[in-house]
Amino acid sequence: MKKALITGITGQDGSYLSDLLLEKDYEVYGIIRRSSSFNTGRIDHVYEDPHVPNRRLTLMYGDLSDSGCLSSILNRIQPDEVYNLGAQSHVRVSFDTPEYTSDVVGMGTIRLLEAIRHCGIKPKFYQASSSEMFGKVMEVPQTEKTPFYPRSPYGVAKLFGYWATVNYREAYDLFACNGILFNHESPRRGETFVTRKITRAAARIKLGLQETLYLGNLDAKRDWGFAKDYVEAMWLMLQQDRPDDYVIATGETHSVREFVEEVFSYLELNWEEHVEIDPRYLRPTEVDLLIGDPSKARRQLNWQPKVTFRDLARIMVDADLGLAEQEKAAGKRLTW
Ligand code: NAP
Ligand code: GDD
Repeated sequence: MKKALITGITGQDGSYLSDLLLEKDYEVYGIIRRSSSFNTGRIDHVYEDPHVPNRRLTLMYGDLSDSGCLSSILNRIQPDEVYNLGAQSHVRVSFDTPEYTSDVVGMGTIRLLEAIRHCGIKPKFYQASSSEMFGKVMEVPQTEKTPFYPRSPYGVAKLFGYWATVNYREAYDLFACNGILFNHESPRRGETFVTRKITRAAARIKLGLQETLYLGNLDAKRDWGFAKDYVEAMWLMLQQDRPDDYVIATGETHSVREFVEEVFSYLELNWEEHVEIDPRYLRPTEVDLLIGDPSKARRQLNWQPKVTFRDLARIMVDADLGLAEQEKAAGKRLTW
């Protein structure tokens, strides 16, 4: 039975990846941070439920800022695969906490790679690289060969993690892959990322729980896919004969405004009556346009996205309508 270690297991991708690996009969180990409130909501369905067959999920406290704990966890688990998904992953927040973001996202990656090297084990390693590294894009669409131009402390730190991963592959013959993933969303997406913020607010507006949605730049364009499709690509990268780097994207781009229109029209609402612009949500430097070319992943991994832009918006709205109905019944705000 294969063992996988996941950093960032409590996040959107970590939860879908655990579902996938458990389905594939892995023993899954996740690193979680101590929090003053519960932060395992996205994985409770596999962790807590004694009726889930073949329950093989183990959680351990740790942090990407603590090299000692990374070494002791790796020594103890001796994983076959390591997925490094842990991050302060909010781009806007990275402008407020640049040093912390760089420490967790950039240094955290090299701490984990060093811990692997010093443990004397050779697990396959997946690095959660990001289309944010393309930033002020040098080429349209973006491929594995497009030069990088990050536009935020988060993007700069991800670039460090990207090159650390390439370097450890070349220097120490580690099976290390960068997945350069474009934006991917789901009902498990954090509520402050724009798609979820929109679906959450629109559902609440529909049920009369909220009047207004405050947003920033509506003109930014993103290549949005479905998170469940994207974690499959992570796993596929580690099943190849050779380690490599891959762009994972849909090949389509849409503006934030289009996402708003799609969501509000599905709910038969006029978005212009509810959306207001709040400059607090603008960024000092913006990434205006992202659109990825996933041809290499299609060719070499036999991977392709299954969920369209329209279906993604609807999956998220349907889930948030369910949550808003529960909120209405409970008479208080709930988190998913
Ligand atoms: P997410 O929902 O924000 O989850 C981030 C995870 O990292 C959470 O489990 C969080 O734990 C954990 N974490 C935060 N700080 C940590 C630290 N100091 N040490 C250890 N773990 C820490 O992010 P996501 O959307 O699942 O994304 C997963 C990864 O892919 C991230 O590295 C992200 O930067 C990258 N990425 C995401 C996208 C996307 O569109 N979603 C695209 C490209 C790349 P808590 O629950 O305790 O906060
Ligand atoms: N979050 C947020 N909130 N974004 C807004 C808002 C708002 O109120 N209004 C407009 N936007 C715009 C942002 O300016 C940005 O151009 C776009 O919506 C998407 O913002 P996010 O959903 O926060 O995602 P992101 O593209 O900055 O970053 C996400 O994708 C990256 C991959 O490209 C994150 O998941 C990163 O971790 C990931 O690496």
